[in-house]
Amino acid sequence: MADDLLQAPAWKALQRHATALSGTHLRDLLEQPGRFAAFSRQQGDCLLDFSRNRITADTLNLLIALAGEREVPGRIEALFAGEVVNGTENRPAQHMALRGPPSPPLLLKGADIRLEIEAERERMLDLAEAIRTGEYRGATGERIRHVVNIGIGGSDLGLVMAIEALHEFRTPEVQIHYVSNVDGTQLADVLVQTPAAATLFIVCSKTFVTWETALNANAARTWFIGQLGEAAVARHFVAVSVNGPAMDKFGIAEEHRFRMWDWVGGRYSLWSSIGLAIAIAIGSEHFRALLAGGRELDEHFRTAPLADNLPVLLALVAVWNQNLQGTTSQAILPYDGRLHRFAAYLQQLEMESNGKGVTRDGQPVQWSTGTVIWGEPGNNGQHSFFQLLHQGTASFAADFIAPVEGSSPYADQHLVGLANLLAQAEAFARGYTLEAAQAELTAKGKAPAEVTRIAPHKVHPGNHPSNILVLRRLDPRSLGFLIALYEQKVYVQSCIWGINPFDQWGVELGKGMAVGMHDELQSATPTSALPPIGHVIRQWSNDS
Ligand code: F6P
Repeated sequence: MADDLLQAPAWKALQRHATALSGTHLRDLLEQPGRFAAFSRQQGDCLLDFSRNRITADTLNLLIALAGEREVPGRIEALFAGEVVNGTENRPAQHMALRGPPSPPLLLKGADIRLEIEAERERMLDLAEAIRTGEYRGATGERIRHVVNIGIGGSDLGLVMAIEALHEFRTPEVQIHYVSNVDGTQLADVLVQTPAAATLFIVCSKTFVTWETALNANAARTWFIGQLGEAAVARHFVAVSVNGPAMDKFGIAEEHRFRMWDWVGGRYSLWSSIGLAIAIAIGSEHFRALLAGGRELDEHFRTAPLADNLPVLLALVAVWNQNLQGTTSQAILPYDGRLHRFAAYLQQLEMESNGKGVTRDGQPVQWSTGTVIWGEPGNNGQHSFFQLLHQGTASFAADFIAPVEGSSPYADQHLVGLANLLAQAEAFARGYTLEAAQAELTAKGKAPAEVTRIAPHKVHPGNHPSNILVLRRLDPRSLGFLIALYEQKVYVQSCIWGINPFDQWGVELGKGMAVGMHDELQSATPTSALPPIGHVIRQWSNDS
């Protein structure tokens, strides 16, 4: 079977190579001269140091051979050429087209879609600017001071992450709020802060049928009508969707509808009008810089040789760690508080994309795919979960991410953060041996018996792989580059694993079941479809 990764000659060679390398500790690999030069790459203002992975020059050569055998170059071309890379939904994945006009015409089903994309972007940016400057007024003539983005998943995570990351570029004139969760807590918290006359709601939903978003949007609409009346809805609600009829029904004015296309996946959509809240927060010039950063990465991805190609290298190292070194999760550890939602954003990007159990042709995979992504700002993590990372039994990989120029005015403090980043990456890699612990305790004058008793507790096994990604600074352009870097990394991983990263059938089962459970919870005569605890929940709910 062409899609059988296990039969790829480079894969078999990598397995033998992994066995041969298994006795070598990362601390020994780090002693090799020239290691940083061999295992780091810079593109513009982004530097990737992947030297703290359990790799040698042979590993890298074999991984690159694997990329060749898995037809990564051809698949990159297919992606950019607009071929149907999402076979189960019979669609291309053209989110790159949203980042700016490529030089050749972009043909989809025979039509050049560049003009449509540009026209839609300009309309979206015009509205964003009008809100920022105060030219756009609410129904009573008041200036818009609050924007509430109602959306979930790809209609929330990317734009929240970007707006938080670009805090320094935000206008103080308009406050952005987010409502995603169905339970109503965010909505309740937001609606006490937003005077209706000064608030614009963005209903962000590619499909416009997402239950959570529909409930939140309808509740916001009802609240709004209670404040200003139905006639004002058209002025205070805008929407981004592919679903015209649903927007009709909701009462979204024609000029306040922004188009999406079915060839943009939700988790790849912040570059489109789904990013309207980003554009309002940072302005059109910065939004264009964000797109330019993504474009710069695309150009690099498309043209750089595999051995110098940042997304390819990140993907290959991740596959090596997961499939051949046994890591079971990937920690995302930014050392800049502005990136505090980056891990949450990457969770959807990577886990919804590559969390698949069958190959593109529907065969069950015989190798692990997808990666459990998790993370927090690294410095905070040091004082909570890093204990487990250093001395627990979990096998993980980590990405440390930081701008060198910090996002706060406290440059000295940011430098302390960077020192921590370096120290943690080194400690993960090198660990701390029993001999070192014994010597330390002896030097402190501990009795031999005490040294023997305590030293094992001070051992850090080390040998934990990590990447360090540094940006010169965190700005719209570098953020665009960073986001696109991970998008394309995910694509390369999917090519190696032979899976479709652009569908997400796995989210559907639970969605359908939730409708049934809701009916059962509301029913006077629930059936056995409601599990026992559901009966208790129903009872308690009726009591309250
Ligand atoms: O349930 C998952 C999902 O379909 C994501 O893929 C998507 O980003 C999210 O829901 C929101 O979808 P929509 O933008 O259509 O409301």
